[in-house]
Amino acid sequence: MPSKFKIPGRYTASDFPQGGVLPLGAAIETRQLTKTYKSRALGKINVVDHLDLQVEEGEIFGFLGPNGAGKTTTIKMLLGIIYPTSGEGYVLGKEIGDMNVHKIISYLPERPYYYEHMTGMEILKFYGSLFGINDRAKFQALLEKVNLAADASKTISQYSKGMQQRIGLAQSLLNDPKLLFLDEPTGGLDPIAHTEIRDLILQFRDEGRTVFISSHELSEVERICDRVAIINKGIIERQGRLEDLLRGGRIEIIADGLTQTFADTTRTADSTVSFHNGRLIVDLNEDGDINGLIDGIRTSKGTIVSIIPRRRRLEDLFIETVSSAKGKKNTEAV
Ligand SMILES: Nc1ncnc2c1ncn2[C@@H]1O[C@H](COP(=O)(O)OP(=O)(O)O)[C@@H](O)[C@H]1O
Ligand SMILES: [Mg+2]
Repeated sequence: MPSKFKIPGRYTASDFPQGGVLPLGAAIETRQLTKTYKSRALGKINVVDHLDLQVEEGEIFGFLGPNGAGKTTTIKMLLGIIYPTSGEGYVLGKEIGDMNVHKIISYLPERPYYYEHMTGMEILKFYGSLFGINDRAKFQALLEKVNLAADASKTISQYSKGMQQRIGLAQSLLNDPKLLFLDEPTGGLDPIAHTEIRDLILQFRDEGRTVFISSHELSEVERICDRVAIINKGIIERQGRLEDLLRGGRIEIIADGLTQTFADTTRTADSTVSFHNGRLIVDLNEDGDINGLIDGIRTSKGTIVSIIPRRRRLEDLFIETVSSAKGKKNTEAV
């Protein structure tokens, strides 16, 4: 593989036995990464289809898409568990499949399996031993971090789903990873357990780790991700900063005590204005001159009744994206 990019500052040259491969700051990069499966009914299917993914260091990245979109397959390729059919991928500066990278990343699978008779401490000891870690103080600190220290005597069979997910997160921190892959970390959890997991993931970012989360549940991800990619039928439909993708929301401002003349001057190409009995209702783009309008209302001795943001939600964008992509082909006849 020819060396195309600069070596990022955070890694030393010894991290790059095959030469530099990442642009500065990228934790994950894929180029045209593809996985093809054969199916009797459908022929060859690109379940991951020429994927160009870019995850920056230190961010929480949401990899979003409906069931069957290709999220887990992508993660497994990035981890070197399955081989790509074609394309390239780099994780922390190393080509995918390079086992050295496993020392500094971790993976929480979609449905982790734990020995049911073990306690949380025993789980950490067991997985710690796989990394050569035998540090009880560290295990205890991890149990405290994920709020399981008080349940020390319980076995996994007595854990709730949220507790199981938390021990999974503790386990994924054992090797102090720079990058965590969390496959559907909030799947099937109740809202309180969701919040606990979300808060932990935010802590991981504060500790300088990169977090790659796959999810088909959007409301939780929306609150914590810096950037997202929306994948559907193996194809990335959207990728970018959440705030950019969600731009274009509306704001409704309601005010009393104003005149028809004021209402007439408020009207612009990108706003709708209604006026009745001194009450003005303006609906304008969130990028519009909101402060100017508020200043104008107050200068004219009007009273603000409410200012209601009607932001676009990730859910809207997701449904828009996935339904507009319907019918795209990612199959070919054998
Ligand atoms: N080993 C396999 N052989 C054939 N098809 C597979 C295999 N693994 C996954 N698939 C198919 O690939 C598609 C993507 O699956 P997956 O990556 O698990 O999706 P997601 O994680 O987004 O729900 C699905 O249609 C799934 O049935
Ligand atoms: Mg999956």
